[in-house]
Amino acid sequence: MTEIPTQDIVVLQGVTKCFGPTEVICGVDMVCRRGETTCIVGGSGAGKTTLLRLVVALDKPTTGSIFIDGEDIAPMNERQLNHVRRKFGMVYQYAALLDSINVLDNVAFPLVEHTKLRRAEIRERVRDKLKQLDLDDTVLTKYPAELSGGMARRVALARAIVMDPEVLIYDEPFGGLDPISMGVIVRLIQSLNRLLAITTIVVSHDVREIGAIANYSYLLSEGEVVAEGTPAELNAERKGVVRQFMSGTPDGPVPFHYPAPDYTQALLSVEDP
Ligand SMILES: Nc1ncnc2c1ncn2[C@@H]1O[C@H](COP(=O)(O)OP(=O)(O)OP(=O)(O)O)[C@@H](O)[C@H]1O
Ligand SMILES: [Mg+2]
Repeated sequence: MTEIPTQDIVVLQGVTKCFGPTEVICGVDMVCRRGETTCIVGGSGAGKTTLLRLVVALDKPTTGSIFIDGEDIAPMNERQLNHVRRKFGMVYQYAALLDSINVLDNVAFPLVEHTKLRRAEIRERVRDKLKQLDLDDTVLTKYPAELSGGMARRVALARAIVMDPEVLIYDEPFGGLDPISMGVIVRLIQSLNRLLAITTIVVSHDVREIGAIANYSYLLSEGEVVAEGTPAELNAERKGVVRQFMSGTPDGPVPFHYPAPDYTQALLSVEDP
């Protein structure tokens, strides 16, 4: 049996995923360490969301192994998988607040679904989580359409942490944000990571923003990890594909789709652990 070090909360070994004849994840090895922030970076269609769905056990790999908290999830039954799924909080790529219910009910949703807490306890828990995200009671009765974009993201974050997950996963948290709002979200991710002493996984195509928060990053291209390392290691990497990632140039070994980021600037703002 494979021995997984206890600090390695998420481990992928030789993971592949096929949809019909197409292999979209091609033998990925990956480790996310407890308490750290791991970033998965890649262009559109690289396989980032597919990889996340495998990690949170919403989908099964075609081949390879996934260990969560040292346990191989492949042989698990549905009840055991549900237990694994509850270790994760997910902030989805497309904000996904339910428009027809207010903030209280949106954030309470996982508690209502998965716990037997009483209504008063649920309300307290929701208020507590909103407070951690600098949102006061006045938002409780608001509907998603009445929130600013930044507030809606905080509410989605509150919902992601309401079950006290061990791992918080963000799929494209910077999508559609202007640079100032991006900075706010980056700081939020950092402060939640510290405040909750939580493990964080961030998926993004925005190299500039992840440079400021990653302890370790994986560069994904067409379903394969083409490079990995700390921000400093990746910045020092001379491989063409990595240089292209860092410089954000559209021409090069891999077709990426994002504007030229100033990665050096992001690295300068990385704080020592
Ligand atoms: N359920 C599915 N059935 C068939 N193909 C799929 C399925 N889900 C994803 N794919 C394909 O897998 C590839 C990777 O998709 P994925 O959504 O993981 O990319 P991504 O890196 O998250 O992209 P984006 O940055 O645009 O969100 C794409 O070619 C996509 O069409
Ligand atoms: Mg995606």
